[in-house]
Amino acid sequence: MENICDAFQGKTVLVTGGAGAVGSNLVKRLDELETKKIIILDNLSSSYEWNIPRSPKVLFIKGDILDDEKLKWAFKEKPDIVYHLAAHFANQNSVDNPETDLMVNGMGILKVLQYAHLVQVERFIYSSSGCGIYGPDSTMPFQEHDTSMQLYTPYQVTKMLGELYTNYFHNLYGLPIVNARFFNSYGPGEVPGQYRNVIPNFFYWAMHGQPLPITGSGEETRDFTYVGDIVNGLLAMAYYKEAVGESINLGAGREIMIKDLAQWINEISDNKAGIVFKERRDWDKKNRLLSCIDKAKRILKYDPQMEFKEGLKSVYKWFLENRANIERSAEF
Ligand SMILES: NC(=O)c1ccc[n+]([C@@H]2O[C@H](COP(=O)([O-])OP(=O)(O)OC[C@H]3O[C@@H](n4cnc5c(N)ncnc54)[C@H](O)[C@@H]3O)[C@@H](O)[C@H]2O)c1
Repeated sequence: MENICDAFQGKTVLVTGGAGAVGSNLVKRLDELETKKIIILDNLSSSYEWNIPRSPKVLFIKGDILDDEKLKWAFKEKPDIVYHLAAHFANQNSVDNPETDLMVNGMGILKVLQYAHLVQVERFIYSSSGCGIYGPDSTMPFQEHDTSMQLYTPYQVTKMLGELYTNYFHNLYGLPIVNARFFNSYGPGEVPGQYRNVIPNFFYWAMHGQPLPITGSGEETRDFTYVGDIVNGLLAMAYYKEAVGESINLGAGREIMIKDLAQWINEISDNKAGIVFKERRDWDKKNRLLSCIDKAKRILKYDPQMEFKEGLKSVYKWFLENRANIERSAEF
């Protein structure tokens, strides 16, 4: 980890989507390193001012990745490294709003890549998604080469499109890109809401004494990955040269059943209301998700550390500490 930190010394880093769940955790870590400056470009469409890390080194630009004025402002700072995390998130939101999804996740990444190419960044790291890359015809645990064209939501289509664009910039222009394939990130910093992930939403309902709704049988599994481990992987992607031009899974490499997750969250938050089963969402075809993280271990020395229940407890702690802001912001 020592060398990885050195890689950020004196560097200017742009984080699009830096106010979001993963982005805010990444910015906090970048701020602790000897970076020169961290620029956040975020339109706050799914994040909140109160959740943005504050520091003299952090420049927050409130703006859209589709807005050239804001992009010029961000890239005038000549970032050395770009983390492109801004996205229209996620599956249900994209089914409800497919055109916005295509604009932000398709046109948005194209614009950010064009500016990154113009200022010749040293590294461009894109937050891809395991659920947008692997499908029913991929073999578990998912290995990076085993991609699928059988996708079920516009979000899955556009997250894959993002990888096609980064690969194109790498292949034609030699842009040093890395595709980081996330698997169900969880951790402090994710505000619950209609389109958010299951863990923050379960905590929100549990803290309101409501039964936790499982859309399916509860036997479904996900490879929940602690955001701090993902951040470690993202930092390593800026450091190791062998990562350039590669797509690499950043998962935990273990499956968690949704009914176990619900039970643990009820235990941690002392919610007596139990679980309620609801109809499965029609786009939700993926019974199980599990990443193979051998490539990340080999190239990035990636080694996810967080034990799952400990990670859940840290989410609960964050909820308790930020309860007033969360209550004000959560929209369902
Ligand atoms: N969280 C996960 O489990 C997960 C899994 C796979 C991939 N990803 C990807 O990782 C990235 C970060 O995920 P997250 O959980 O932090 O999501 P998030 O929604 O919390 O963060 C995305 C950020 O982008 C911002 N944004 C959205 N549209 C924008 C626009 N047009 N211009 C500028 N900013 C915009 C939002 O305000 C938000 O702060 C996303 O690209 C997501 O697709 C996340």
